[in-house]
Amino acid sequence: AIDIDKLRSETGAITLDPGFKNSGACKSAITFLDGEEGILRYRGYSIEQLAEKSNFLEVSYLLIFGELPTAGQIAKFENDIRKHTLVNEEMKNIIDGFPKNAHPMGILASLTSALTAFNPQPVNVSDNQELYDTICKAMGKFLVIATWTFRKNMGYPLNYYDNTKGYVENFMRLMFELPTGPYKLDPVVINALDKLFILHADHEQNCSTSTVRIVGSSHASLFASISAGVSALWGPLHGGANQAVLEMLEEIQANGGDADKYLAKAKDKEDPFRLMGFGHRVYKNFDPRAKIIKKAADDVLEALGVDDPILNIAKKLEEAALQDEYFKSRNLYPNVDFYSGIIYRALGIPTEMFTVLFAIGRLPGWVAQWKEMRLNKEPIGRPRQVYVGAPLREFTEIEKR
Ligand code: ACO
Repeated sequence: AIDIDKLRSETGAITLDPGFKNSGACKSAITFLDGEEGILRYRGYSIEQLAEKSNFLEVSYLLIFGELPTAGQIAKFENDIRKHTLVNEEMKNIIDGFPKNAHPMGILASLTSALTAFNPQPVNVSDNQELYDTICKAMGKFLVIATWTFRKNMGYPLNYYDNTKGYVENFMRLMFELPTGPYKLDPVVINALDKLFILHADHEQNCSTSTVRIVGSSHASLFASISAGVSALWGPLHGGANQAVLEMLEEIQANGGDADKYLAKAKDKEDPFRLMGFGHRVYKNFDPRAKIIKKAADDVLEALGVDDPILNIAKKLEEAALQDEYFKSRNLYPNVDFYSGIIYRALGIPTEMFTVLFAIGRLPGWVAQWKEMRLNKEPIGRPRQVYVGAPLREFTEIEKR
């Protein structure tokens, strides 16, 4: 076997792979992904089966602990999460400091980071109980503060978790229930959200997950690592794409619904515009999540009796792109976020919150990957570079420059 460290010290050899297109950074037993075949599995279970038969908390358990839970294990997990849904009231002062209409992802990253101030002890990952408690704390508090970012912008009083309701149902309640009356929720909505969260729950070493792992590799706390993941997810090339897709569809609608014009813009190399929700670093055939979500969008809209012209524009755009040589030759297909926004919109979620929903869905993935990385005792993440700057130069005094 080649001793890479020895080789490097003798030759100075470094692999250069911008964007890590071909470099693995770790071994992982969590998610299997085959981009050519369009396969996605969590811990060996197909995404299709999980989306159809499971629910978000069960999938979270599976990702984090490796096995599908028994009835007793999932009841305990849910109960233990509930115990950690109270957020320190002093956090409200921090929220109050944000200007109205600050982007919810910015507030979420800051609040998640602020949780470190209220939970300052570094977690001892070799203590099973302590590790488990930390995970339940993350699952409980993150959901609540994620919804607070919306309540703050709406000027609503902040809401508390209802222990008699499930995790996903609580999300909608925390968002929309007002002191003036109980919030009624259609089971179709819970089902659709469960599905969406499951589809977003993990995706191996994507940008935000790699960020969580690399921050956590310095043994920074779980909340600090998750906060960094939220920031990475925010970008429009990653999780921010769901917001960007809907804004793009709205723009197309406002300009007369001419999908072809936008296809032409996306193909024009002088134009920075990209067709949002299209293309994927790994899926070069189709994104299996997009297939499930497209069907779910149809079902939800029908069940809720919503006739959204935006959905027709999305379908027109997809059909046109799939026939187009530019998109075909580059293997650009709709990704998970092409249709997710249409469902969120039908559920009354404002566009700016779309990426926050992605973050709630991705949380168990981040936690699972962080846990795996720490338990595997992975070394600190520290990429190398190929230096292309100036050679050694003599310093010039300021008056001579
Ligand atoms: N619209 C138009 N052209 C595109 C698009 C697009 N959406 N995506 C890729 N291309 C083109 C590129 O311009 C490039 O063309 P070229 O070979 O002529 O230079 C070629 O396809 C390859 O694209 P890369 O950017 O090299 O592919 P990469 O793997 O680095 O990027 C990414 C993948 C970031 C997802 C890209 O496809 C993109 O920007 N898509 C739009 C944003 C989006 O939907 N992001 C969500 C990703 S999924 C997720 O995070 C859940």
